[in-house]
Amino acid sequence: MSSPTARPARKAVIPVAGMGTRFLPATKAVPKELLPVVDRPALQYIVEEAARAGLPEVLMVTGRNKAAIEDFFDRHPELESALEKKGDAERLAAVHESTDVAQVHFVRQGEARGLGHAVLQASAFVGDEPFAVLLGDDLIDARDHLLEHMLAVQAEHGGAVIALLDVGRENIDKYGAVAIEPGEQEVVDGDQVVRVTGLVEKPPVEEAPSSLAIIGRYVLPASVFDVLRETPPGRGGEIQLTDALATLVERGEPVHGVVFSGRRYDTGDRLDYLKAVVRLAAERDDLGPPLRSWLREFVADLPAEGASSS
Ligand code: UTP
Repeated sequence: MSSPTARPARKAVIPVAGMGTRFLPATKAVPKELLPVVDRPALQYIVEEAARAGLPEVLMVTGRNKAAIEDFFDRHPELESALEKKGDAERLAAVHESTDVAQVHFVRQGEARGLGHAVLQASAFVGDEPFAVLLGDDLIDARDHLLEHMLAVQAEHGGAVIALLDVGRENIDKYGAVAIEPGEQEVVDGDQVVRVTGLVEKPPVEEAPSSLAIIGRYVLPASVFDVLRETPPGRGGEIQLTDALATLVERGEPVHGVVFSGRRYDTGDRLDYLKAVVRLAAERDDLGPPLRSWLREFVADLPAEGASSS
């Protein structure tokens, strides 16, 4: 078993090279990570989350059709000078937000060969330090401090730490699932910490080791790169990060899970995306009041489920 790391994680890796097939046809031209959640791309919330957690160095693993992501995190001098001329300080600040929040770097994943393969592209950037992985379409509410909790657990125990969510046994076949050590669990700020004893990607419901699903936050040791290099394609012909983590467990590296109890949206899923937009807009000071009053009227007029709408 490796001893807890002396160095805390300082770098974040955000894989954004997936094909986004669940959101076609929009994702034919627009990366799903740039779809606006109210007025900011989902990805901006995620970069802000990394910076808030103390990880201001970010590497995005991009792919084909993702040039717009690089443009978004780059300066836009023409737009900036047009807004300056107009004296529109508020919009100018909004434009600067995306470039000021973190130091963003890019690397390409030539072919979308799976999440494990995407993470492997970060090895030169990461070096031999522990690092965080934040999936580019998995939005954690800014009021919940999942990543901070995970970083604290990793600093204490070393090894890998993964975010888990109880999705119910009936839904577990859409996720990576974990087996955990039974017994008393530690709790960090309301989130339970468990010791992971096995992982399997998208198991059939009847074979799943639990109803705890892996969601899009990881804090990983650099040793995962050597494991990923040797990990053969798994489910769906893709190199699975879940399989590499299963190997870490087999080798006796500590793998812990933080069971998330807060708000999370999979913005790569159409229904969850809509929920994220409505919820975050309804809670905002500017758009919230008129949206909430419209929503009340809208909901009151909705026909009962099963009734015809016309
Ligand atoms: P998903 O499975 O959610 O992404 O991968 P996807 O393949 O783009 O989505 P669908 O299912 O086709 O709609 C989780 C994360 O891993 C990245 C994705 O961009 C997403 O952020 N990913 C996935 C890569 O960077 N490379 C890959 O080869 C696969």
